Amino acid sequence: MAATRLFSHHSAFHETFFILPFLLRLHTAGAFKPRLTVSSSFPPSPRRGANLRKASNKPSPSRNLAFSPGRPKRRTRSGVDFDRDLYRRYTAYGHAPVMLTEVLEVFALPRLRSFVDCTLGAAGHSSAIIEAHRELELFVGLDVDPLALDKSRARIEALLSDGSRDELRAYTHVRNFKYIKAVLDGIDENLLSEGVDGIFLDLGLSSMQVDHAERGFSILGDGPLDMRMDPKGTLKAKDIINSWPETEVGRILRDYGEENNWRFLQEKIVNARKGGGLHTTGELSDLVRKASARSGGRQGWIKTATRVFQALRIAVNDELQTLENAIYACFDCLSSGGRLAVISFHSLEDRIVKKTFLELIEVGEGQEDKDDFTLYKNDKFVTEEQSWSKQIVVGRNGVIFTKRPITPCEDEERTSRRCRSAKLRVIQKH
Ligand SMILES: C[S@@+](CC[C@H](N)C(=O)[O-])C[C@H]1O[C@@H](n2cnc3c(N)ncnc32)[C@H](O)[C@@H]1O
Repeated sequence: MAATRLFSHHSAFHETFFILPFLLRLHTAGAFKPRLTVSSSFPPSPRRGANLRKASNKPSPSRNLAFSPGRPKRRTRSGVDFDRDLYRRYTAYGHAPVMLTEVLEVFALPRLRSFVDCTLGAAGHSSAIIEAHRELELFVGLDVDPLALDKSRARIEALLSDGSRDELRAYTHVRNFKYIKAVLDGIDENLLSEGVDGIFLDLGLSSMQVDHAERGFSILGDGPLDMRMDPKGTLKAKDIINSWPETEVGRILRDYGEENNWRFLQEKIVNARKGGGLHTTGELSDLVRKASARSGGRQGWIKTATRVFQALRIAVNDELQTLENAIYACFDCLSSGGRLAVISFHSLEDRIVKKTFLELIEVGEGQEDKDDFTLYKNDKFVTEEQSWSKQIVVGRNGVIFTKRPITPCEDEERTSRRCRSAKLRVIQKH
């Protein structure tokens, strides 16, 4: 089949297709409905609160604490050897793919015929998966950010340009991952019934987004208070800061930033409106720095600013509800034996991934922590090669391979600050 590259700009859904070797169009408007209606403008839609609640505070069992002597963590530190050359090879545009070796191991299935990267970014993970799986027949990459997509598309195109992968149909698409079902249905109407073998979400921002101050995500750089991942989104951080009711500003600082000092900061932000409001990330950082003057120097205010920026970013991009809906949709799209892996970067996200995985596999209310639902290295599901999976949870619909999330190995943590809060969870459909 000819390896012609065809591009289509489909303005009705502001989407871009990059299709090898042929182009198909998404056409069924009705198919674009998400599982739940999601709104990112004020007033915010009532959230399904359960997944935002803190995870149980039960004492952590000591077997999970490979790290941090003072504070046991309910997690499993990755035991892989850090392959510096692999990371260098797949780092692009300043973005290093987090836990790359672990992700490659998770998708080292006997046959990975189809793979969807829901958060393409700089295509680091995707490039490595495509190169590692010569048997791949279908690749789909999504990103809500057209600038990221342009770069990753060029990278994947270069990877396939030698003509040796003509059997691989590759598509990239500017689209929110909550619409994964509609995207797959638009590519091939049989895809949803057959299912895909691998789906991957690497949440949050890429270095390309954080490092460009004009996107408004950077605490130390100065740019407009924007924070939209999708430049066509209607809500910007400055709208929340300067126009949302005071109580809503406080609510997002508390619920999305998990900031203890939220009331004080809420007051400061709302008071700033009397002087014309805040319009740049520099002004917001200054306000936080002054408000945190007594709480511990540079590190103190930067930590507070990180929480404030996180709160705004989550609200602007409606990240939590989108994530919950998307995990349900992704699981529906898996083939039997297919895997979904999610890397999250803060506790709110991780709580949603953990709880949604448990709901999806159906272990039954309150039973998820009982030993009879937790199997250690069950041969049926976990082979010797799957050393990354320590404890599994088996349900009616699937298996969770990571009862405790996997976190980066110490060598990776030393090379990249960004990966430090990363948590990887993996689920497989029966
Ligand atoms: C951490 S980066 C991914 C990096 C990528 N794995 C790599 O190796 O280069 C996350 C990307 O996900 C995108 N993203 C975040 N939320 C999204 C959503 N709801 N739908 C689609 N893309 C999203 C961001 O724009 C960003 O480019």
